[in-house]
Amino acid sequence: MSTPTNLKVSEPTKGVLTITLHRPEALNALNTKLLEELADLLDEIQSNPEVGAVVITGSSKAFAAGADVREMATLDAVGVLRDPRVDHWKRITAFKKPLIAAVNGFCLGGGCELAMHADIIIAGEEAKFGQPEIKLGIMPGAGGTQRLLRAVGKSMAMQMVLTGEPISAQQAMGFGLISEITIPETTVERAQKVAQQIARHAPIAVEMAKDSVLKAFDTDLASGLLYERKAFTLLAATEDRNEGINAFIEKRKPAFKGC
Ligand code: HXC
Repeated sequence: MSTPTNLKVSEPTKGVLTITLHRPEALNALNTKLLEELADLLDEIQSNPEVGAVVITGSSKAFAAGADVREMATLDAVGVLRDPRVDHWKRITAFKKPLIAAVNGFCLGGGCELAMHADIIIAGEEAKFGQPEIKLGIMPGAGGTQRLLRAVGKSMAMQMVLTGEPISAQQAMGFGLISEITIPETTVERAQKVAQQIARHAPIAVEMAKDSVLKAFDTDLASGLLYERKAFTLLAATEDRNEGINAFIEKRKPAFKGC
């Protein structure tokens, strides 16, 4: 993969890789290139055993202010239909390792949709979450109507999508969109700590647990419970499951190997 120009990528530290969206001139607006770089990078990380979890963040002013409106202005209906970003979003959705968004500043439109692709959102107290597309005569198109509803419930999702007005980090916390509020200076550090905690666990168990929780979004309870039970049963075939249980019994730290 060529070096990304719209992302800064850390070396893996304690099993955690940090991706920083970097288009400061446009408040990290998500253009095709940025999304392609992000999808390519996540594809690559997928098979890197040194990475147990990923933190994605932006700047102190903006996680991301949405899809790139200037680029969107160049697309007609066929352009939107054939937009390569649809495939990039699909690849981001398919990422199997835990993804934690560390959000400060504006988290709007496609930016909010990207944050909602993360499994956990941790936000600075000044963060603003919104789906302002309606003000542009359009609507969310990368999961904003679906994931937001599941995160905050119907009434607040409707209010955000139909008025286009953002909510504060405190409101996002109250509605369950995010899991923690930090002071802005420590958001990334806190997200990295949580990611490191996850990265210490058995990778296959982590992957299956994430997959099972996400399954709840698109299945009924009985099917979801069956899915969970099958994943739980499958884990019994892993060496890490024996290691984790034996380590507990022997009162030592487990040494997981990812198999
Ligand atoms: C392109 C953007 C941008 C965006 C900001 N910029 N948001 N460029 N696309 N989404 C650019 C501005 O044009 C400006 O460039 C620079 O970033 C700084 O922005 P300002 O507006 O000067 O900053 P500020 O006054 O602080 O206002 C911040 C803001 C505002 C409130 C976030 O920028 C804003 O409203 N942005 C658009 C938010 C939005 O509508 N997002 C939804 C997009 S649609 P210049 O060159 O002028 O200095 C979408 C659809 C998703 O996301 C569909 C997915 C399939």
